[in-house]
Amino acid sequence: MLLHSSTQLLTLQGPPQRGRDLGALGLIENGAVLIRDEKILAVGGTDELRASFPDEPALSADGCVILPGFVDPHTHLPWAGDRANEFELKMSGVPYLDILAKGGGILSTVKQTRAASLKSLISQTRARAQRAFLHGTTTAEAKTGYGLNLASELRLLQTLLALNDEGPLELAITFLGAHAIAPEFKNDPQGYVDEITNTMLPLLKDWWETHAPHLTLPFVDVFCETKAFSLDQSRQVLARAGSLGFPLKIHADEFDNLGGATLAVELGAASADHLVRTSDADIAALAKSDTVAVSLPCTPFGLAEKDYTPAQKIIAAGGLLALASDCNPGTTWNESMQFVIALACRAMKLTPAQAIAASTINAAHAIRRADTIGSIEVGKQADLLILSVPDYRHLGYRYGTNLVRQVVKRGKVYSVDANYYRMA
Ligand code: NIG
Ligand code: FE
Repeated sequence: MLLHSSTQLLTLQGPPQRGRDLGALGLIENGAVLIRDEKILAVGGTDELRASFPDEPALSADGCVILPGFVDPHTHLPWAGDRANEFELKMSGVPYLDILAKGGGILSTVKQTRAASLKSLISQTRARAQRAFLHGTTTAEAKTGYGLNLASELRLLQTLLALNDEGPLELAITFLGAHAIAPEFKNDPQGYVDEITNTMLPLLKDWWETHAPHLTLPFVDVFCETKAFSLDQSRQVLARAGSLGFPLKIHADEFDNLGGATLAVELGAASADHLVRTSDADIAALAKSDTVAVSLPCTPFGLAEKDYTPAQKIIAAGGLLALASDCNPGTTWNESMQFVIALACRAMKLTPAQAIAASTINAAHAIRRADTIGSIEVGKQADLLILSVPDYRHLGYRYGTNLVRQVVKRGKVYSVDANYYRMA
């Protein structure tokens, strides 16, 4: 299939973009892409590719922008129920961590998730996966973390494996057993850490090798935060996971700076995420490393807080910056990377080009998949978007409506607008 006549084709070609290199779009005017067998076979100008492949079935992107599918490298996609009641509480002034300390927050979703059947978890999570996909996310990282015991955490992994098999949204799976201290260990937090390191992680490795032998090991993540896991406990979890061969991630500096970002660098984690209270020393450590700084601007927005990731400092220091939704029932229930981009531009003063690179090639590197997705390059998976806009800067500029006309995933075209037209 030849996709042609786009006003602008953003290739994002090349390696992940560090520091001030962020925002190189590799823009081709009147661009075209040749797709065969799920992969990209050629990229170039429309006239050139049409002349070289005259008999190829064609799809016109006239008046539209083509760009790589968004990669959302941080979501908590599988959960049951909602916390609309807590949103009301938070907006009337009760702090997020106070709600958690009183057994609400994450623990309220844990209760609802433990009570849900596998079938119900799959259908609730599928609805979110479909919304993300229709808004242009072609690959998303997705974490467990609302089970907090072996059986429930495994059920969340089963949910994610089933949805990844089903598609079209592709998932990069993460085990976040260390999301909160399990209620059973309320008075013995170290007991829960020991349970994770001595029991859950080794069992997870065996379970994964039996249930998902076709996939590489999942990431292991930890919520390094006041009232969750201390720096030392985070180190215990991640060091054990690393020694078992799991790739690593961390939630760091969302509310307090405990040193999680520097720990991520020390342990060679793929990413350190949130990074609101991150110090200059942490930023310097990140900038010298291959650990991607993943900013989640919807989280402070969702909590109506005023501080965001110091993205400009990370860029100036030479760090690798990516963006993600953090989609979860507590702090920010939003599946759209288009909204993340619009918010990142305003709250962190990214240009649309920087925000797009942070949501594609750099986001792919945050889940260590930049060799197969995140840009439109020969040999990569054919994951791309046709946006009904004439210029890429409409991303960022516009928000609150869906700009996607079609999503192409592994070479297959999914129409978005068609559903709306049919309703009329
Ligand atoms: O990334 N920080 C920890 N986890 C989520 C919130 C989870 C919840 O409140 O359910 C986050 O913001
Ligand atoms: Fe998170």
